Amino acid sequence: MTKTSTWTRSSWQNYPVLQQPKWPDKDELQASLATISKLPPLVFAGEIRALKQLLGDASQGRAFLLQGGDCSEDFDNCTAPGIRESLKVILQMAVILSYAGGKPVIKVGRIAGQYAKPRSSDTENVNGIELSSYRGDMVNSPVPTPEARTPDPSRMVKGYYLAASTMNLLRAFTKGGYAALNRVTAWNNEFIKTSPMGRSYERLARQIDRALHFMEVIGLDVEGPLLNQASFFTSHEALLLGYEEALTRQDSTTGLWYDCSAHMLWIGDRTRQLDGAHIEFLSGVLNPLGMKVGPNHDIDELKRIIDKLNPQNEPGRLTLITRFGAGKIDKYLPSLLRNLKGEGYNLLWSCDPMHGNTYTAETKHKTRNFNDILQEIRRFFEIHLAEGTIPGGIHFELTGENVTECTGGGRNIMDKNLQENYLTNCDPRLNAEQSLEIAFQIAEMIRS
Ligand code: PEP
Ligand code: CO
Repeated sequence: MTKTSTWTRSSWQNYPVLQQPKWPDKDELQASLATISKLPPLVFAGEIRALKQLLGDASQGRAFLLQGGDCSEDFDNCTAPGIRESLKVILQMAVILSYAGGKPVIKVGRIAGQYAKPRSSDTENVNGIELSSYRGDMVNSPVPTPEARTPDPSRMVKGYYLAASTMNLLRAFTKGGYAALNRVTAWNNEFIKTSPMGRSYERLARQIDRALHFMEVIGLDVEGPLLNQASFFTSHEALLLGYEEALTRQDSTTGLWYDCSAHMLWIGDRTRQLDGAHIEFLSGVLNPLGMKVGPNHDIDELKRIIDKLNPQNEPGRLTLITRFGAGKIDKYLPSLLRNLKGEGYNLLWSCDPMHGNTYTAETKHKTRNFNDILQEIRRFFEIHLAEGTIPGGIHFELTGENVTECTGGGRNIMDKNLQENYLTNCDPRLNAEQSLEIAFQIAEMIRS
């Protein structure tokens, strides 16, 4: 199937659409979307094409995708320290993974627009009051009152400006020296010194340090742009299709359509119906796309979705992000790979070890255990190896803050510790230390 000739940036409106807020005032909604549609794009087509090319490399084993950030970005955390700490931890992980894997790591944040969430229920009961569910800061507020939970379309305009602000700082940090390789390596060495499990990662950290030193010794310009700057891309779940439509623009040089709200967009596990609005919308924009695939999938439908999203079978266009859970990956991933491999699809395979491993702790906190996350990752690599396919990426919910949202890790956060610094409005994230530990553990896996 080729892109339907009926596609326009608003053709999704003729399809059933799931997970949209019930905006109370349609005129206000239209006014907010009209405002956004006149504002400048957040990213440029050339950058989107560059990312697609890199992801194509990853699909063939020549690069590796590291995607990560908040489950749901918080408007109040759009601050310099908040952005800097998230960027820092992703840069640190990327250095570890690229050294161990011997290939470039493509850094993609769940950032600068990850403001809308699908929910399992439209409403929730808080202390006996039935409230609209929190659907992300671009829709409503997590504060549990009827007023705060009422969807407010002006939040999309605010989300646009905060995404622009975030993007601006990310560009400044990554091009202005903050991401310099020797600086990132120094942070990793600091982590080794201060983390309880640091010693077990010391050998690898020392090797990275030596590699960098060697580059300096032979005269590579460590202050030059090659080692002093980093490429960093943005992504979010393309959930609120009105917002995405308003930022979808025609590239003046090629006449092609790009969703300029982020470099990469992904489709959630709950909104990937073949005949649904999300698939229709994303089939017509040329960004690289991710699609989550959980246990509840139908292989024939998946094939038809792949045909619709990537009719030219272009490498880098489509990343399947599997999220089965440590207990289920063995049941689902091998057959999925076998079923799709024979079809000759060019796909990038990434692992989201977060969303299939969520459970409720005794303290009622939603959490995930470090060992389950690690186990799903380990099996992801092993299963791909056994099937002869390429494990090309990894997708995390993480933060640079010192939160206590996931259990386990070097400091062995236990259920009873979760309340100490549980800040997320949505899903539990790995904290900076747990994220780096995971990176070192993956490094050991991919080196052996
Ligand atoms: C997410 O990535 O935050 C998410 C909701 O994931 P999924 O669609 O896989 O459930
Ligand atoms: Co999540």
